[in-house]
Amino acid sequence: MKAIVLCAGEGTRLRPLTHTSAKHLIPVANRPVIEYTLEALKEAGIRDVGVVVSPNVEEEFRAALGDGSRFGLRVDYVIQERPRGLAHAVQCAREFVDDEPFLVYLGDNLLEQGVRGLVEEFERGGANALLLLAEVDDPTRFGVAELRDGEVVRLIEKPKEPPSNLAIVGVYLFDPHIFEAIERITPSARGELEITDALQTLIEQGYRVKPYLLKGWWKDVGLPEDMLDANRILLESLEPQIRSPIPPDSRVVGRVAVAENVQIERSELRGPLVIGPGAVVRESFVGPFTSLDRDVIVEDSEIEYSIVMAGAAIRGTGRIENSLIGRHVILSRNERPPETYQFVIGDNSRVRLI
Ligand code: DAU
Repeated sequence: MKAIVLCAGEGTRLRPLTHTSAKHLIPVANRPVIEYTLEALKEAGIRDVGVVVSPNVEEEFRAALGDGSRFGLRVDYVIQERPRGLAHAVQCAREFVDDEPFLVYLGDNLLEQGVRGLVEEFERGGANALLLLAEVDDPTRFGVAELRDGEVVRLIEKPKEPPSNLAIVGVYLFDPHIFEAIERITPSARGELEITDALQTLIEQGYRVKPYLLKGWWKDVGLPEDMLDANRILLESLEPQIRSPIPPDSRVVGRVAVAENVQIERSELRGPLVIGPGAVVRESFVGPFTSLDRDVIVEDSEIEYSIVMAGAAIRGTGRIENSLIGRHVILSRNERPPETYQFVIGDNSRVRLI
């Protein structure tokens, strides 16, 4: 079975990071979000993966994932010129999936349980589509399913009055009948071709859509706080591993992974915490729930519950928390008068001063 991972779209709620990168390439626990998906697909026995991307980030995806061999997969790229909806994204991948059943994974979702159980259930037969569903407190933010006698009988995208608390979790299995349904639907109120509407059409045409209930945690990482929460969850099961010298003037407490070529001086590292290769931590307190990617510098600062991306430098800033800091960002204290704040900040940045 082939899989497609949908990674086009604008990622507006993660700007400015998504001005220069796709949200699926933002690292959580120092690995791009999409790597967890690729791992789950491999573990489910899938070998061919089509990654649907917007034209402006195609090169970045190619640089990050290559031909997929690093993950034991064959990765191809499918371009969706404009983000016209999930059903449109699936349609763009029609040639790639051919006439076989296939899996669709929304690239901004992270799942604890993987997708093997779902694939096996679909392969046992008896359904034209299988949907991963989870009970949630606020179903209005999701596609919502109504069940009867173990089958899905109705689906609505982001309903004001949800018929149940069962949200669609962003992993779907389809047989090729879905393409006929996609051809019949028209854009929704938000102007998108919704996969939820295509599924509803399948049901109305008498095809069978079955539910598969999620076990374990699930995270849709559309917002900065979701990224930080996913980072927290993943760091909780981090394998502690210290690959660089920790001098006697520094202290490591709890679940900490330090990569090779990291320089630590007069600092406290408090887990859960991961530090990537080439990083420098000097006169600082780092963690808990923090990921410092490769070549990050933290000097004379304190940082917790944050993601700091590759090459960023934080110097003399005092205490930072709840922060998502992009690649090669420089945060430093103004040493000379006048005592003013000085910024070079991209569009849609969010800065809170004290
Ligand atoms: O997270 C689960 C929810 O995902 C489901 O409950 C909803 O039924 C489903 O419609 C979807 O809703 P979202 O509004 O969260 O979808 P979003 O626009 O965030 O897109 C999900 C992924 O698909 C994301 O990785 C971007 C990608 N995408 C999105 C669009 C609109 C594409 O590849 N192409 C597109 O045209």
